[in-house]
Amino acid sequence: MQTIKLNNGVEMPQLGFGVYQIPNDQTSEAVYQAIKIGYRLIDTASVYGNEKETGEGIKRAIDEKLVTREELFVTSKLFILQAPEAKATATIGQSLEAMGLDYLDLYLIHQPYGDIYGAWRALVAAQKAGKLRAIGISNFKSAKMIEFVGLNEVKPQINQIEVNPWNQRIEDETWHQKYGVQIEAWAPFAEGRHDLFTNSVLAEIGKKYEKSVGQVVLRWLMQRGIVALAKSVRPERMAENFDIFDFELSSDDIKKITDLDMKESAFFDHDAPQQVEWFMNRMLETEK
Ligand SMILES: NC(=O)c1ccc[n+]([C@@H]2O[C@H](COP(=O)([O-])OP(=O)(O)OC[C@H]3O[C@@H](n4cnc5c(N)ncnc54)[C@H](OP(=O)(O)O)[C@@H]3O)[C@@H](O)[C@H]2O)c1
Repeated sequence: MQTIKLNNGVEMPQLGFGVYQIPNDQTSEAVYQAIKIGYRLIDTASVYGNEKETGEGIKRAIDEKLVTREELFVTSKLFILQAPEAKATATIGQSLEAMGLDYLDLYLIHQPYGDIYGAWRALVAAQKAGKLRAIGISNFKSAKMIEFVGLNEVKPQINQIEVNPWNQRIEDETWHQKYGVQIEAWAPFAEGRHDLFTNSVLAEIGKKYEKSVGQVVLRWLMQRGIVALAKSVRPERMAENFDIFDFELSSDDIKKITDLDMKESAFFDHDAPQQVEWFMNRMLETEK
């Protein structure tokens, strides 16, 4: 597995498996299958409600000696906080307990709202205590990431953001490189939006290499040096998405993909009032 070295020296797999929107009763099996296929980076979040089942899939794979804990790179995330530091510390503990793990390889502030500075102090303390090997942020736009780096002693190792052919984040990539913060792509397939899987440009490129659209997209992210998370509940697609290390896209093909950039989210803008309102309501629901 190709790895990427983070700004604190920790190495992580460049391709991973995400469990967002996998129903609870399918998560453990999906995680187990993904590990069996070869994935070593597993991404969940407290707000996905499936940390426990993710941990069960991991435990089964370890118990069956498919993998050791040290070979895995397990990520979870802290949702929006009304109350600061102490609550973040408690949430990290809850994630560890739910997943049945002594430490996590990566823990992220999931959304750029609420007391992100209090939350960050808790993450830094947990990292120093050996409970988190790497820490980072998610859904921070470049300007916010720069402010966050400027105002904290410890800078994030990762910013997990939406990156896909419709929203390529080329300028953001330059800013993240400047500050040494690794980009990790969520929704690399844009969850299929704008008919990604049948896009003629991507399909045509795939034909040349005898690869699918999904494989072309993930390969493009690998060649950009971006960590990518792909989600599927189907083992055959998990295997397909993992089989991307035996070909290389030409610079002409990369250029054709670059031309597809719409430079806007296939989902929503984190600064749109109705979206922030949605997140605030979601936060109140999770606190019930
Ligand atoms: N930090 C954040 O705010 C954030 C937000 C969103 C996601 N994430 C993380 O990023 C991960 C990936 O993003 P995502 O799950 O939103 O979307 P995604 O990976 O872009 O797309 C997943 C969708 O594509 C389908 N699919 C997967 N492989 C395919 C293939 N080879 N051919 C055809 N269809 C395929 C899946 O269907 P099937 O399952 O039916 O195969 C599913 O509907 C998440 O699981 C999560 O860990 C983080």
